[in-house]
Formats: sequence, structure tokens, C-alpha cells
Amino acid sequence: MITTTSPAASTPVHNLATPHFSRPTYLMCAPEFYDVDYVINPWMAGNLHRPSRDAAFAQWKNLYQQLRRIADVRLLQARPGSPDMVFIAHAAIVSHGIAAVSSFAHPQRQTEEPHLRRWLQESGFLLWSTPRETAFEGEGDAMFDADGRHLWIAHGSRTCKHSHRHVADAWHTPVTSLHLIDPRFYHLDTCFAPLANGYLLYFPEAFDASSQAKIEAAYPEEKRIPVSENEATHFACSVINIGRNILMGEGTVDLAARLADCGFDVTPLELSEFHRGGGSAKSLALRLSDVSLAESL
Ligand code: ARG
Repeated sequence: MITTTSPAASTPVHNLATPHFSRPTYLMCAPEFYDVDYVINPWMAGNLHRPSRDAAFAQWKNLYQQLRRIADVRLLQARPGSPDMVFIAHAAIVSHGIAAVSSFAHPQRQTEEPHLRRWLQESGFLLWSTPRETAFEGEGDAMFDADGRHLWIAHGSRTCKHSHRHVADAWHTPVTSLHLIDPRFYHLDTCFAPLANGYLLYFPEAFDASSQAKIEAAYPEEKRIPVSENEATHFACSVINIGRNILMGEGTVDLAARLADCGFDVTPLELSEFHRGGGSAKSLALRLSDVSLAESL
């Protein structure tokens, strides 16, 4: 029996066996109850109750089918009362069978927490809790480099800076904190995406000067793929990258060509109904297997 407990929030969790993956594996949650019911990011303003659930379901299903071509995909049952649950990537970040589970900043999303916790626990993951006082929003604000050895975590309007060290301690990994300064790019996954083969897709202006310097120190210029403001506002950085494959929202034709020049094979998908809620491809799938499993291009 394996037991782990977080020093800060403390219920010990018991599991029989940690999961092992031989293929990239993700968790998704269908948009059964998806809607824009409240405004907790600038994209939701003006979109209250505007998403079409039928269109959202068709777009989500297309993403699910495309992801299944290149990865295993598990499903979490959607729940009424949690309309943002489809953005499942924000509920945790997972590596080596350990899931650092989110403490959402807004009460509207806190209702999602117990459902994912239970699924992860029943699936054999070790849970690393994060304290309510220091909000943490999973893969929304935290990402490993493509080799899985370094963690980037952002703070701004959602994740609290004081959660960073605690989250990184789940894997004893080095962590770099980044500061988000533009409310439109309220989560790290809207403006930063480490890609296979050491590339980085990012929108520099979303970060303060010191964070930009940290990014530039870690990624040489020839590996940095900056996006324009127009591309960034089309959620160009919210990509799912597995090896040479990139799944992303459509509307950034020129960027797809630049990514192709770097050896990537881009599949553009219509995800407009989710843009109304403030998210795109990356936020709709939570990675369960280690990031390094998908690294080679
Ligand atoms: N409505 C969700 C929220 O504000 C949308 C999340 C999508 N976010 C993203 N990082 N792409 O939490």
C-alpha cells in the first residue's frame, strides 16, 4: 500500500497501485453541462449563456477523436452545477503517478474539485493537496518542460505565488515562477507552451520583464516561437503537443506554417464555443502520463 500526504492539507490517501502508461494518456470531460453562467475571466464577459451546447459537443467530440488518434483518452463524468468542468486541465497537474490537485481561486470552480479527486484516487494516483489559502489551478498555470525535469508556474489573477514551491515539492523538481500581467492571459496555458524538441511557443507581452528574461535564459532564441497579439487572442498557445503532433484551435494559419517549419504537424480544430468561456485545446484535456513519454519529434 502506498501512502502520501501533503504537509499543508493533510488527509492521507491510500492506493493499491500507481498507474503505468505505455502511451501518452489524457483525461477529458464532455461538455454535457457546459455554459457561460458567470464571468471569471475577460473572455466570458459578453458571452453569458451564448455557447450552443450542441455546437460545443460537436467541437469537443472532434477534439476527442483527433486526440484518440495519437493518445489514449479516459473520460470523467460531467456534473451539473460545474459548467466549466470541461476545462479539466485546470483541476490538477500530473507526473510520475502523482497528481497535484487544484484549489481553484473562484468558488464557481471549486465544485469541480471533489469529482476529479475521487477519479484520480480510484485510478491509483497519489494525491498532493494544495491549500485553499494559496490558490493553484493545475495545468492552467503549471507546465513541465518537454523533458519533464523543470516546472514553470505562473501567478497573476488565479494561482497564488506562494503555492509554487509547495506544488514543485510534489516531485522535488526545480521550479521557475512567472508573473502574468495582462488580464486576457489569465492562465499560463493562454500564453506559454513548451513543445517537443526543446521549442517554446509563447506570447512575450503577457509576462513582466523579469519573467521574459527568465524565459529567454532557458530557451535559446532559435527555439523560441513568439506569437503575435492577434494569434495570442485566438488562443494560439493553448495547444496539445504530442511528439510532432499539435492540436490547436483554428484561425492562426500563419502560425501553423511557422510550426510546420520547425517540424510540427498541426491539426487545426474549430473550438469557438470554448473560446467564449476563455479556453481552447490545451485546457480541454488533462495529461495523465509523463510528459517525457511524448517528447521525441
Ligand atoms: N471559464 C474557465 C475559467 O475561467 C475557462 C478556462 C479556460 N482557461 C484556459 N486557461 N484556457 O476558469
